[in-house]
Amino acid sequence: MPIPKAELHLHIEGTLEPELAFELAHRNGVDLPYADPEQLRAAYAFSDLQSFLDLYYQLMDVLRTEEDFTELAEAYLARAARDGVRHAEIFFDPQAHTARGVELDAVVRGLDRALSRSFERHGVSTKLIMCFLRDLPEASALATFDACRPYFGDVIAGIGLDSAEVGHRPAKFATVYRRAKEAGLRLVAHAGEEGGPDYVREALDLLGVERIDHGIRALEDPELVKRLAEERIPLTVCPFSNVRLRCVATLADHPLVAMLDAGLVATVNSDDPAYFGGYVEENFAGVRRALGLTDDQLRLLARNSFEASFLEDDERREALIAEVDAYRFP
Ligand code: ADE
Ligand code: ZN
Repeated sequence: MPIPKAELHLHIEGTLEPELAFELAHRNGVDLPYADPEQLRAAYAFSDLQSFLDLYYQLMDVLRTEEDFTELAEAYLARAARDGVRHAEIFFDPQAHTARGVELDAVVRGLDRALSRSFERHGVSTKLIMCFLRDLPEASALATFDACRPYFGDVIAGIGLDSAEVGHRPAKFATVYRRAKEAGLRLVAHAGEEGGPDYVREALDLLGVERIDHGIRALEDPELVKRLAEERIPLTVCPFSNVRLRCVATLADHPLVAMLDAGLVATVNSDDPAYFGGYVEENFAGVRRALGLTDDQLRLLARNSFEASFLEDDERREALIAEVDAYRFP
């Protein structure tokens, strides 16, 4: 069995495999501009974040009903369990669905059906995090935030910020982050994926985030690195994603080891695994191979994932960390 771990950076829409996309397209009468799953997969050659987002938003169109969202999340959770994932904090993009005329209720209830039975079925505890699309105005985020209020707490645990980063600074979302904090939600944001270290600082200072999603460009600013290490702000790093979106040239060039050496609470995650060539255990295996990570470094990454998680049950967290410490690689 793979090492126990938490997955903390996973867009549920990014787990839509070509086969399921075609099945849902057929069921919902949606025309896909590809002949078959193989041809679709062949289109997964990205030059940057935007080129990926264009396809990601297009393909989402096959997700229409509550059942579609349940099926999508159920497929991910079953797969995650086989990868040793014991806790998953899952992003979704409500605006990408409501903008297409899908009811918010269908999205949230559909996802929650799979998530709420995940521990019983798969041994994977879950949290759901709603992300705002940063290339839309804050007014849209605020309206979405208000529409999601009935789900705060039991169903939606936190907010995040994703989509096209450069030119859409964290500062734009200060109001919605303040309201989310007042509402008792947990706060994360993508920063330092394509944007510079200043985006990471802004997310910390103006949004008050508890974790940074990606954050690889923070390494360009030694003072910021020192701060992130001292304050133990976790970074949810996604190695395969960084290579596929050309934020990093090859896996062997990935700064993950430099991050660990700097004392950062780095974790390894899959981001959009259906698009980037692998799920979380494949990311672990990939960095192990390409960067020559030691067993102790792999255990540290897994331990960090539980430390960085929003698990409230400290006993479970400690038990999972003890499992990591006792884990022996085959
Ligand atoms: N939405 C889905 N994946 C994303 C990523 N890696 N960065 C920004 N927005 C995203
Ligand atoms: Zn992401």
